[in-house]
Amino acid sequence: MDLNELKTRAQKEIRKAKNLKELDKIFKKYLGKKGEISRIFSSLKGLSEKEKKKLGKEANLVKREVEEMIKEKLKELQGKLRKQKIEKEKIDVTRPGKKLGVGHLHPLTLVQREVLEIFQSLGFSVVLGPEVETEWYNFDALNIPKDHPARDFWDTFWLLRNQKIPNHKSQIPNKFKIQNSKFQKLLLRTHTSPVQIRYMEKHSPPLRIVVPGKCFRHEATDASHEIQFYQLECLMVDENVSVANFKAIIEEFLKRFFKTKIEIRLRPSYFPFTEPSFEIDIRGEKKGNWTELLGAGMVHPNVFKAAGINPKNWQGFAFGVGLDRLAMLRYKINDIRLFYSGDLRFLKQF
Ligand code: PHE
Repeated sequence: MDLNELKTRAQKEIRKAKNLKELDKIFKKYLGKKGEISRIFSSLKGLSEKEKKKLGKEANLVKREVEEMIKEKLKELQGKLRKQKIEKEKIDVTRPGKKLGVGHLHPLTLVQREVLEIFQSLGFSVVLGPEVETEWYNFDALNIPKDHPARDFWDTFWLLRNQKIPNHKSQIPNKFKIQNSKFQKLLLRTHTSPVQIRYMEKHSPPLRIVVPGKCFRHEATDASHEIQFYQLECLMVDENVSVANFKAIIEEFLKRFFKTKIEIRLRPSYFPFTEPSFEIDIRGEKKGNWTELLGAGMVHPNVFKAAGINPKNWQGFAFGVGLDRLAMLRYKINDIRLFYSGDLRFLKQF
């Protein structure tokens, strides 16, 4: 066995090793238990003492040299690996950062805030009421008794029959209480008008309030109808409130909201809780088609009575306007369902 030849061979192989795995193979090949150098040591057995000593010494030397070369190569390879890793993990602080997605207000929220601001500046207070209502506040107190055909105007989501709450201790006259029952039926309010009653029960005129909020109707949806939508109720009660006051307020509101003069038209209509009742149509300066906007009227005496206010001393107007409708006009949106679709392509435009 030529030790020098072995050494050069090992050296060549070590130099060529590209990675730790290859180097490990070379280590085993030469220095492993059954490696070439170990085999030299076992072959010494049959030799004379002198030869053993000489060859043993030489073999030891070669062994150490090969070990040294492998160690060197190992260092080199590890250094390379570390460099690659650092290169990979390096953060380039000069690169532009990733933008975080920032949320924003829903178009209906924007419109609601703006509308409330206008009415507040006209002296109206913002009042809220419950979305789950009793039959009394949503219907009876608003002059819509059971079996009244007008109830069909409002397709109602009734709550399960066993979820009833006690009759209100206070205002409900006996004839409105469910016979032989201590309970009121519950529903999802079909309009914001019940808050008129709730507010007048607790406050004496003069009153000026606006009531924004969710309403629900049990009907098929289409481009202009949703089962859930937003209304704004407006109520003004004083000693001498007339249709003229209503006209002034609504015209002022429309002018400020649409930032242009808006023409209005009162069309006779019917609501059980107002008399007379009318529908308001609007059109802009270009005098195009009339667009139906809201329902309104002078508060019906029975409504005052149900809320404990004497209709001989007080008069008032009320109206209910769809906030969705206002938002659709403002932003030229042709389908109410878009507001509730959660479609980001739609929402990102606001
Ligand atoms: N509550 C009516 C509706 O939802 C609107 C309305 C409110 C009409 C107040 C007149 C007065 O249809």
